Amino acid sequence: MSLLEVEHLTKNFGGLSAVANVTLSVEADEIVGLIGPNGAGKTTLFNLLTGVYPPTEGKITFAGNDVAKLAPYQVAMLGVGRTFQNIRLFKDLTVLENVMVALHPTNSNLLTSILRLPGYYQRIAQQEAAALKMLEFFDLADKAAIKASNLPYGQQRVLEIARALAMKPKILFLDEPAAGMNPNETNELTQLIRKIHQEFGVAIVLIEHDMSLVMEVCQRICVLEYGRVLKIGTPQEVQNDPQVIAAYLGGDA
Ligand SMILES: Nc1ncnc2c1ncn2[C@@H]1O[C@H](COP(=O)(O)OP(=O)(O)OP(=O)(O)O)[C@@H](O)[C@H]1O
Ligand SMILES: [Mg+2]
Repeated sequence: MSLLEVEHLTKNFGGLSAVANVTLSVEADEIVGLIGPNGAGKTTLFNLLTGVYPPTEGKITFAGNDVAKLAPYQVAMLGVGRTFQNIRLFKDLTVLENVMVALHPTNSNLLTSILRLPGYYQRIAQQEAAALKMLEFFDLADKAAIKASNLPYGQQRVLEIARALAMKPKILFLDEPAAGMNPNETNELTQLIRKIHQEFGVAIVLIEHDMSLVMEVCQRICVLEYGRVLKIGTPQEVQNDPQVIAAYLGGDA
């Protein structure tokens, strides 16, 4: 069984099928690209897979669990992490705090927290150390104390990835991680995605309009058009597919 199995998934908004009969699987060690023209249903598919919307029809199985009717926090706790097309950081918290809030409370004890028993401070110190380690991996440690909103835009995107990873997900959904980045930042992100995949052993599904990034890091690519799967294949297969070329260039298939 694959880590993620999506079967005949559909989401209707009124008369519009934003996601239409999508069947797709993702293995535990894969990086899969999700591409398609604007409005193709990419973000809606992420929203279905992370519990933001209930599907109109279809099945989502993650790590053997039926997750189609779960709330976002329940899906997250099963090991699903994500970033958003529009950055959603805690703008007034520091860079370090943004990662700390996402760390799994490993041996949380409510009474210890409420009464501020010695264990409380110890746990905060442990979380701080773990968050700092995460920031080091992302080359953000020297920015730990500044407000998230004061980071340059590209680094805010990277911080969002760091925060998602702090929850120790088994799969990470990245919605246009390179959006708004300059070519240099996009190059660095390409390397970073590979490094994350290796170091954290996490499956990654990424939506991206930057084709060079997608073609370079993804083992498989799924192309959506009008909510439907147009093609699933290797980067080479997708690039050479006449229907895909037509969808992007508007020519005849
Ligand atoms: N909550 C909603 N209510 C109604 N329609 C919606 C909703 N969310 C998305 N849609 C519509 O569903 C379609 C797919 O949108 P979606 O955001 O998933 O596309 P996308 O592939 O992520 O596009 P983009 O590349 O521009 O981000 C669009 O026509 C959009 O207007
Ligand atoms: Mg989108």
